[in-house]
Amino acid sequence: MSAAAAVATLKTVLVGCGGMGKHQAQLLSSLEGYKLAAVCDAYEPNLKAVSEAHGVKAYKDFAEMLATERPDVAAICTQNTLHAPMTIQAAQAGVRGVYCEKPMATNMADAREMVRICRERGVKLVVNHQRRIGADLLEARRIIEAGGLGEIKLVRGQCAGDMLSDGTHLIDSVLFLLGDPEVAWVSGMLHRELDVDLLAKEQRRVFKDLPVDPEQARKQKEVQAGQRYGHAVETGGFGILQLKNGVRFEFACGDLRDAARAYQDYEVIGTRGRLWRTGDRAKPNLFIGDARGGTWDAGMESGIGFKPVPVKDGGAGPWRPVDISPEDKGGIDGSYRKFHKTILEDVPHPMSGEVALRGFEALMAVYESARLGRPIILPLKQDRFPLDVMLEAGRA
Ligand SMILES: NC(=O)c1ccc[n+]([C@@H]2O[C@H](COP(=O)([O-])OP(=O)(O)OC[C@H]3O[C@@H](n4cnc5c(N)ncnc54)[C@H](O)[C@@H]3O)[C@@H](O)[C@H]2O)c1
Repeated sequence: MSAAAAVATLKTVLVGCGGMGKHQAQLLSSLEGYKLAAVCDAYEPNLKAVSEAHGVKAYKDFAEMLATERPDVAAICTQNTLHAPMTIQAAQAGVRGVYCEKPMATNMADAREMVRICRERGVKLVVNHQRRIGADLLEARRIIEAGGLGEIKLVRGQCAGDMLSDGTHLIDSVLFLLGDPEVAWVSGMLHRELDVDLLAKEQRRVFKDLPVDPEQARKQKEVQAGQRYGHAVETGGFGILQLKNGVRFEFACGDLRDAARAYQDYEVIGTRGRLWRTGDRAKPNLFIGDARGGTWDAGMESGIGFKPVPVKDGGAGPWRPVDISPEDKGGIDGSYRKFHKTILEDVPHPMSGEVALRGFEALMAVYESARLGRPIILPLKQDRFPLDVMLEAGRA
């Protein structure tokens, strides 16, 4: 009888012991193949709470932790402005892998640099867009790839919060659903309504009896401060991504979203049907309206666009929930399991730095379009965070 092969253990350190760091430290303490050796935070109470909870060493300085511990993996859970510098610091200190929170950076120059340095040094970089491995998105992508919606024409999505912290999930998820196509050009607009809560005053006037989704309300309150995770934010943003495969993706964030919908809500519209993901938390949250459901007919060939099939003609039936495979175990823990194989067996990770970079460039281009008031053809030439440039010029 042969004993099961021992799983190689990756010595891991984590920086940033706030909400997300606490969660990841918990996962890393129990995941096979990882040994959480130390944590770091500049804020003593957070550092103490997480280091004591897991009985691991505590550092106030990231460089010192890297030099002393010589870890295999660094998990980066600090605020957005520190993701790129800390990824680069860890790569230069000789780690084998960096598990970095989203968004990967706060400007294009940093994002390109962190990917370049990791590639050059053979460091595996993952950016935590964990919805990419969620069972609902995997099933949605299977349906799309199998032609279940015909030819995809349009995607519409929305979420509360700012485009950098919340829109990044939206863009990443939609690009994943469409097979990670290239982006041809983008257009965007944004505003900062710091004193007026448009959500509360206007949206609720429109949707009179709408119950407030606490997750969306909390995020919207955070962006109302004008500053979040170490950088300036807008309170509302809108973008169009024209993909090279002909699909268009339109999204609204913050107070420009439809308040009647939940966080991370998107619809994929094809010539023979459509999929609707109705947010993160609803169960079920994935619905299909196809030829059987009879929601939409393809009018594209005739050039008249989409048209609903009336119920009397056998169409416009209700949305049907999609069965989600219980096989697909997503989540951040699932992502870390994949990361173990990425580091030790060179298996590509679905949330790699290279993959994240494409969505990030589109996102930065939305800001740049808002700054310049015109569409941006990629590749993006602006290295800085365009919102900072706007604010310096007294705009937004
Ligand atoms: N993937 C997701 O779904 C998801 C969800 C929530 C948050 N996030 C991301 O996780 C990150 C952290 O979010 P959070 O809500 O935990 O934030 P947080 O503010 O609660 O935690 C950040 C921590 O970093 C620490 N820190 C700041 N500067 C430091 C330094 N120089 N050295 C060491 N520690 C330092 C802070 O003291 C704080 O404890 C953000 O980038 C956010 O975008 C991702």
